[in-house]
Amino acid sequence: TDPALIRNFCIIAHIDHGKSTLADRMLQITGVVDDRAMRAQYLDRMDIERERGITIKSQAVRLPWDDHVLNMIDTPGHVDFTYEVSRSLQACEGAILLVDAAQGIEAQTLANLYLAMNADLHIIPVLNKIDLPAAQPEKFAEELAGLIGCDPSDVLKVSGKTGEGVRELLDHVVATVPAPVGDADAAARALIFDSVYDTYRGVVTYVRVVDGHLGKRERILMMSTDATHETLEIGVISPEPKPADLGLGVGEVGYLITGVKDVRQSRVGDTVTSAAKPAGDMLAGYEHPKPMVFSGLYPIDGDEYPELREALDKLQLNDAALVYEPETSAALGFGFRVGFLGLLHMEIVRERLEREFGLSLISTAPNVIYRVVMEDGKELTVTNPSEFPTGGKIAQVFEPVTKSTILAPSEFIGAIMEICQGRRGQLLGMDYLSEDRVEIRYTLPLGEIIFDFFDQLKSRTRGYASLDYEPAGEQESDLVKVDILLQGEPVDAFSAIVHKDKAYAYGVDMAKKLRELIPRQQFEVPIQAAIGARVIARENIRAIRKDVLAKCYGGDISRKRKLLEKQKEGKKRMKMVGRVEVPQEAFVAALSTD
Ligand code: GTP
Repeated sequence: TDPALIRNFCIIAHIDHGKSTLADRMLQITGVVDDRAMRAQYLDRMDIERERGITIKSQAVRLPWDDHVLNMIDTPGHVDFTYEVSRSLQACEGAILLVDAAQGIEAQTLANLYLAMNADLHIIPVLNKIDLPAAQPEKFAEELAGLIGCDPSDVLKVSGKTGEGVRELLDHVVATVPAPVGDADAAARALIFDSVYDTYRGVVTYVRVVDGHLGKRERILMMSTDATHETLEIGVISPEPKPADLGLGVGEVGYLITGVKDVRQSRVGDTVTSAAKPAGDMLAGYEHPKPMVFSGLYPIDGDEYPELREALDKLQLNDAALVYEPETSAALGFGFRVGFLGLLHMEIVRERLEREFGLSLISTAPNVIYRVVMEDGKELTVTNPSEFPTGGKIAQVFEPVTKSTILAPSEFIGAIMEICQGRRGQLLGMDYLSEDRVEIRYTLPLGEIIFDFFDQLKSRTRGYASLDYEPAGEQESDLVKVDILLQGEPVDAFSAIVHKDKAYAYGVDMAKKLRELIPRQQFEVPIQAAIGARVIARENIRAIRKDVLAKCYGGDISRKRKLLEKQKEGKKRMKMVGRVEVPQEAFVAALSTD
């Protein structure tokens, strides 16, 4: 295709503002999917995406429109997947900034807009859902125009649901988004913006060609790893993969298959070039996503450990952001310490492990990465509270912080500030977006955000606040490890790293919770919370003498046997901590974050 006829664009928006629905209409209106085959959220291919109504992986699809070729890239909206958004943006020249006409600008609207502006994209402001009775297109057109510095009349108005305005929007894309520019005669350079593992075809790599040409049966070179592969298949997605025998030229977006089995061999952000005639310089890539949140994952049934390992290996083929290493816990047995991009990523990985691989799992409370500097100058990176050094030799502890942006109606300013202050936030600034909506910016420790911060924010603002955060380095903090001991034995799975001022509350809460969850034993069981050797809270589980045979009168031996069998069954689901029997459910309940 002549690059002058190509338009590459993406749709960016806050979660639920209607990207996937708008994408559906575009598929239909351009005739790529006929009405019979149409289903909602056509491009969200994973079950979990469809059920939750969210987009996790980016999708690229080629749409013919008015003698032009439009490549549309649907992107995820959630903050955990910002890195997916930024890589998709690099493959485009334009972005549709979609805003719900009943909601207005939200936190990810801003975050995504800034990403798109950084990538130098042409921005098309669009209000969606104008069919809603609650829509206020005039008011929000003004807000949106104020944000990007255009005239309110330049804001397009559409309904992804009814299709109103969508044709005009496609025409507008053709008219205003710049055509891709590249050197057709130069050595091939294509940017990998996604790579997905497919059980039958191996890794499918999505690329945007910048210069030159990539063909079928060509030896290609991955520039960052120096690995060479042969392209077994190359093509475009419209809306299913279609092999393109002529290959892909300047500005084109498509996929290639080389038969490799692991997405890490086809790294997102890498540049693909021709092995015979390699390019000199790589395209500016993007950084590998770094895990921010860690948690231990253990099979409830210890025998399932090998299955868990295999499941993680398989999932990683598809999810380059997932990292894990084996760990053992005295309380939970063999498992893995797993690193995630954020809480939603964590939930999704866990859900996929349980659903797609049939595993039952316990996950320990999530934590962030700490950097501990010892008095002798040694440094430690702690991703698991039980590795946190005890004893008085710690000089400094550093924790990751975020720059967080909260958008909400101005009546909630007080409530929001109270929550942020309670979580060691430092106010950075506040701006009014319109007379009744504010943007509030805070520095907040990441460790404070990963514990129900968002839930609290939502409930204190009746659902009106939206949140976005980005990593902003680290800060030194007064952090301590709180251990929980049963009968004097520390239970590693319950240790937590918390701020000094919150250690007492954590200890008291956990001890109380466990007193309720752990059944009485033959002997008294003290539960203690301690910082090092100092006990900060204590509860007691009183002793009972439980005699299962007491209920049997006389000599019904078969009944006795049955009862003993039953008791043995029950024991299997108990974990021994020292001499104390702790039911599996107690771990699950105590470690659940709410
Ligand atoms: P993520 O992929 O999770 O970021 O969400 P999204 O932005 O793709 O939103 P999605 O298309 O899933 O739409 C969110 C909700 O808004 C769904 O319940 C849609 O049915 C609804 N919706 C989307 N567009 C319109 C519209 O134009 N009018 C109305 N009334 N509802 C819409």
